[in-house]
Amino acid sequence: MRRPFVAGNWKLNRGPADAVALAEALRSAVSPSIPATVAVFPTTLSVHAVGKCLSGSAVAVGVQDVAPVALGAWTGDTSAAMARAIGCDFALVGHSERRARHQESIESTRAKIVAVLDAGLLPVLCVGETLDERQTGRAEATVLAQLAGALDGLPDDRLSGLSLAYEPVWAIGTGQVATPDVAQAMHATLRGWLGANRPVWVAEDLRILYGGSVAPGNAAELLAMPDIDGALVGGASLDAASFLAIVDAALRGA
Ligand code: PGA
Repeated sequence: MRRPFVAGNWKLNRGPADAVALAEALRSAVSPSIPATVAVFPTTLSVHAVGKCLSGSAVAVGVQDVAPVALGAWTGDTSAAMARAIGCDFALVGHSERRARHQESIESTRAKIVAVLDAGLLPVLCVGETLDERQTGRAEATVLAQLAGALDGLPDDRLSGLSLAYEPVWAIGTGQVATPDVAQAMHATLRGWLGANRPVWVAEDLRILYGGSVAPGNAAELLAMPDIDGALVGGASLDAASFLAIVDAALRGA
């Protein structure tokens, strides 16, 4: 039984004061005994304040990106080890906005997963195809290349805390959500690849989140699908009530 996982990706929104206000609303609403993983990924400058606010609560905190090294001459980067030191539990790796706007390669996602694991954080690897890749029949090949490349050379025992987020690029921030059947099919493909290439427990335990225009109105039908274990929520996570409605849908779909 995989525990539902709902994550809020706040992207480049909510500076420290606004981020703490949003975090406070979540802290008071999420029961300490909730049978789900709930996490938020504030913008880097807000992570410390949000972490303090959510310390001891059932809502975990993560960073949206990390450097492939723990420290050094990497101007502008974020250290996984330092994120861990201030109380983060998770890190996103390979979000499509990083791949597209920061030329993040498959090799770079692999190095970042190692940095995240070395720091004791849990990676959430994001994969997803563009509209062109889907329309030309390359959706599966694209996401499987992203998955295989990011995990290449990683021993099986390092995969126990990994989660995936399937985020079709054409669905992110567009309001054009993947249908439950389309999302389920890709989740099953990802899980099937893991089952064929890694020990069976990796495929069975690994949580695969769907991301791309998840909202209170579409969450329930997505989260009811057998291979959709949670959601990575962008826009709707900036509103506490919407995010909490999606958490509720995940609990009902578990
Ligand atoms: P969205 O973003 O929910 O606003 O589409 C999802 C994401 O990019 O993680």
